[in-house]
Amino acid sequence: MAVSSVSSIFLFLCLAVIIPLTLSTSSDRPQTFIVHVSQSHKPSLFASHHHWYESIVQSLPTSPHPTAKKILYSYDRAVNGFSVRLTSTQAAQLGHIPGVLSVMPDQARQLHTTRTPRFLGLADDFGIWPNSDYADDVVVGVLDTGIWPERPSFSDSGLSPVPAGWKGVCDTGPEFPASACNRKIIGARAFYKGYESYLERPMDESTESKSPRDTEGHGTHTASTAAGSVVSNVSFCGIYAKGEARGMATKARIAAYKICWSFGCFDSDILAAMDQAIADGVHIISLSVGAGGYAPPYSKDSIAIGAFGAAQHGVLVSCSAGNSGPSPYTAVNIAPWILTVGASTIDREFPADVVLGDSRIFGGVSLYSGETLVDFKLPLVYAGDIGSRYCYMGSLQPSKVTGKIVVCDRGGNARVEKGSAVKLAGGLGMILANTADSGEELIADSHLIPATMVGQIAGEEIKNYIKLSQFPTATIKFRGTVIGTSPPAPKVAAFSSRGPNHLTAEILKPDVIAPGVNILAGWTGSIGPTDLDIDPRRVEFNIISGTSMSCPHVSGIAALLRKAYPSWSPAAIKSALMTTAYNADNSGKKFKDLTTGNESTPFIHGAGHVDPNRALNPGLVYDMNVSDYVAFLCAIGYDAQSIAVFMREPASSEICARKLPSPGDLNYPSFSVIFNSDQDSVTYKRVVTNVGSSVDAVYEVKVNAPADVKISVSPSKLVFSAETQTHTYEISFASGVGLGYSHSAAYGSIEWSDGSHSVRSPVAVTWKSGITAAM
Ligand SMILES: *[C@@H]1O[C@H](CO)[C@@H](O)[C@H](O)[C@H]1NC(C)=O
Ligand SMILES: *[C@@H]1O[C@H](CO)[C@@H](O)[C@H](O)[C@H]1NC(C)=O
Ligand SMILES: *[C@@H]1O[C@H](CO)[C@@H](O)[C@H](O)[C@H]1NC(C)=O
Repeated sequence: MAVSSVSSIFLFLCLAVIIPLTLSTSSDRPQTFIVHVSQSHKPSLFASHHHWYESIVQSLPTSPHPTAKKILYSYDRAVNGFSVRLTSTQAAQLGHIPGVLSVMPDQARQLHTTRTPRFLGLADDFGIWPNSDYADDVVVGVLDTGIWPERPSFSDSGLSPVPAGWKGVCDTGPEFPASACNRKIIGARAFYKGYESYLERPMDESTESKSPRDTEGHGTHTASTAAGSVVSNVSFCGIYAKGEARGMATKARIAAYKICWSFGCFDSDILAAMDQAIADGVHIISLSVGAGGYAPPYSKDSIAIGAFGAAQHGVLVSCSAGNSGPSPYTAVNIAPWILTVGASTIDREFPADVVLGDSRIFGGVSLYSGETLVDFKLPLVYAGDIGSRYCYMGSLQPSKVTGKIVVCDRGGNARVEKGSAVKLAGGLGMILANTADSGEELIADSHLIPATMVGQIAGEEIKNYIKLSQFPTATIKFRGTVIGTSPPAPKVAAFSSRGPNHLTAEILKPDVIAPGVNILAGWTGSIGPTDLDIDPRRVEFNIISGTSMSCPHVSGIAALLRKAYPSWSPAAIKSALMTTAYNADNSGKKFKDLTTGNESTPFIHGAGHVDPNRALNPGLVYDMNVSDYVAFLCAIGYDAQSIAVFMREPASSEICARKLPSPGDLNYPSFSVIFNSDQDSVTYKRVVTNVGSSVDAVYEVKVNAPADVKISVSPSKLVFSAETQTHTYEISFASGVGLGYSHSAAYGSIEWSDGSHSVRSPVAVTWKSGITAAM
């Protein structure tokens, strides 16, 4: 989801609509259910699974509701089963039919550049771009709000023909002509049966398009970030972020699957799109969508279940971690077979300074592109003193605002809407002040009036000045685009959702961070850059922020790796991205968390910031396959029945024969260690595979232990040979805290090195006993 302006309010609205409808099941109105079915139970009598599903549904008791018992989709790749409208009575009956593994109500999920390639070190003359041929022929499936195909980012000039073996199609129609697809956009489909089932009526085609066309903007942005072609001389509104725009994988092909609509992204539609994407032949699925709130258990999370099916088909699923930071445990899409991406800043700023009447200057950021303020300073007022600190639309009295600059607090409503509220009341400018929730995180918005955003500290100073000054005044100086190392980058965005892992503390999440703040990419032609109806502007490119923007960066880089190493598993690609990630900003210091200004931790940034050129040559990888994931599910207590949903079969009692001793024994490229007491110790096993150019490589381990933890690795030297390309090692963590220690977590890393590669895994340890021990 974009953190930008209006999207967040739109999502709050849609949640408000969804909750009452879900509650209405008590009146037993039909709603959509997702039904997981065992593949092998199909009686031979039925020609196809679909016929069987029809027969199952027909056998259910009838209901007075005419829309009940309507099958929306049959699934056979991401999962096995179907989605259907049923009353809760019918759904309960369905659960007892042989072969039915699970019946779950459908749920809505949320939608969670010119500069980023260079910030990521990507270049035409060395590294991953030339060495992967820009991911030519790799197909990235973007599941999102659709695509605006006329944007220059989707030009196919210079691309070779559509790859042989591609099975996807373009859903064409009046709003999406056949010419919309080309050698860049090789597939485009729309999935709305679950959405319309939720609406209980056809969608309103005057406000959204029943085609792959993107009327929201988010999908055009993410698709062009992952795999947009090179476009020179672009900018936002002719002023900001001028330069050449290109996606991460400029020769990769895009298949757009529209799954998000005005009132949300429904599991039944998401699964249908994943199913189709696998059948069509995509290599990477990019999904900047996820649950609102905490991550649902894996077996109740359709994205996790569908991603497991994708992994079974060798397709990597890359997802956003969510925008629910800075609280802990907020990361979603955290199944170990998903690549989970958080958001960070890049080295580009859009400064717009506040100059106060007493000549003090406070740095802020803005993408305002209209006429600037008058030359002299204007009267300044704090919205909190006149009744509406968040500047809600219609809540500001013109008599107190006209002709003034208004300070509004961040939070409550959409950021750009606050400026519109000020304008409506006759105000001339706005200063948007962060609160403790956002700290010093600055997001540049394309405000409709002269406006800038300042951090919490500056906000407090400005409000203090208003309080103490008899005639407070201010102005805003817009400074355009500035690239450099001050402030240092990357920093982790305050909004980026964080660990620890809410479901399995032993798996560190998120996995990596990537650019997600103030990202320029393609935009829809049907709505303005703020997504607000009051915004009359139309732009080819827009600048927005969110983990939604980080995810397609990593999806595109994964496409480059897929091209360079076609035989690598999704887990190997993910391992390469994680073990080569870096942890220092461009001033050479460990990177910071924008919430507090303190050093970030692995619970916030995972393994670190992606480094595409180093990922091309990781040296060693930590590989995993589906049977490892099953052994993991067994370790967290899943029984044969709950695993059946993932395996599409009633699992035999043997399924957990290979249960991992602990979930932390999954061959994950990072470590999250839980100590139950202050003298606890934990031992895990890992397997590494040599993928470097030298078969005789010799790796030695270097340990950077967290405070009060002893780490031992055995063996500490791995000698590879033509015969032995994998090695197992054991790693032990021992807590050695003294009496009265106060910390509850500590961080470190281990690194395998052969002199030319360094294969780094972050280590996060948590003491469950921290409080007890301190007593
Ligand atoms: C870039 O675009 C601007 C206006 O959009 C135009 O004036 C300028 O000539 C263009 N420059 C190049 C090199 O195409
Ligand atoms: C940030 O660091 C300071 C100094 O080390 C520390 O006092 C403070 O508690 C930290 N804040 C958070 C939220 O961790
Ligand atoms: C999966 O990996 C395990 C080792 O972790 C191995 O024993 C097994 O053979 C692999 N399964 C497949 C299907 O490759």
